[in-house]
Amino acid sequence: MKGILLAGGYGTRLHPMTLAASKQLLPVYDKPMAYYPLSTLMLAGIRDVLIISSPADLPQFRRLLGDGRRLGMRFAFAEQPKPEGIAQAFLIGREWIAGEACALALGDNLIFADHLSVLLRAASARPQGATVFAYRVRDPERYGVVSFDDAGHAEEIIEKPAQPLSNWAVTGLYFYDRRVCDIAASIAPSPRGELEITDLNRVYLEEGSLHVERLGRGCAWLDAGTPDSLLSAATFVQTIQSRQGMLVGCPEEVAFRMGYIDRDALRQHAHDLGKTELGRVLADLAEGAHA
Ligand code: TTP
Repeated sequence: MKGILLAGGYGTRLHPMTLAASKQLLPVYDKPMAYYPLSTLMLAGIRDVLIISSPADLPQFRRLLGDGRRLGMRFAFAEQPKPEGIAQAFLIGREWIAGEACALALGDNLIFADHLSVLLRAASARPQGATVFAYRVRDPERYGVVSFDDAGHAEEIIEKPAQPLSNWAVTGLYFYDRRVCDIAASIAPSPRGELEITDLNRVYLEEGSLHVERLGRGCAWLDAGTPDSLLSAATFVQTIQSRQGMLVGCPEEVAFRMGYIDRDALRQHAHDLGKTELGRVLADLAEGAHA
């Protein structure tokens, strides 16, 4: 399975911070925002990632991430000339995806959950259909909302409904089978002129192959698209890391734990991160100080 990290958009809710900088490169505590969804894709076992961003911002992503070799990954890059919808990622990435199954992670979404890697591996191993993750929120009208029938099966999925039928928002992490590019090519832009990911998901829902995984109480899903949520996300990461001494959203750690890089490579990363706390934790990990 391949993966797309979608990191374009205008980021208008974060103006003026995003007037001259990409939203997904802003810091969330001690790492660039995009590291979090990238780590999620890596935890799912994905090693080929296409990073999509605006023509102005893409060079910074190349500078930050390189070709991926240092993480045992393969990164490719593509421009989205204008933010014309999340599902457009599959038109931009079509050639690169080359008929494989593909996941999509939004560059401003953080998911933190116990047993996340088990859920992710199950989603990426599913040969048919699509998997999305739903999370209970207080303000569902801001998101794609999924409702369920009495048996708990997904029934309807609606983008930013004025009257939400449930509190379950669809998070920015999606897994699709190999038909995804064809399906994305078949949907029409919405009245707001975007190729909606909700419309893509609805195709799978209507054919009965959309798996909706509900994330429970012990999980955190944060989208860092507003000043408040950016601050909450940073505080969340700081709290977990300083309390537990464990890292959240660190691609170097994930690469090591997944066996994409060896201990020497991890030592080198720790060294490169110099005097940072991140470097110190990675050095401990390389010496086997943490299980
Ligand atoms: P949004 O948060 O809906 O859009 P935005 O990032 O432009 O922010 P704002 O509403 O403040 O202007 O997008 C969700 C994520 O998807 C975000 O990471 C940006 C990304 N995105 C794209 O890369 N291209 C697109 O065409 C769209 C619609 C979103």
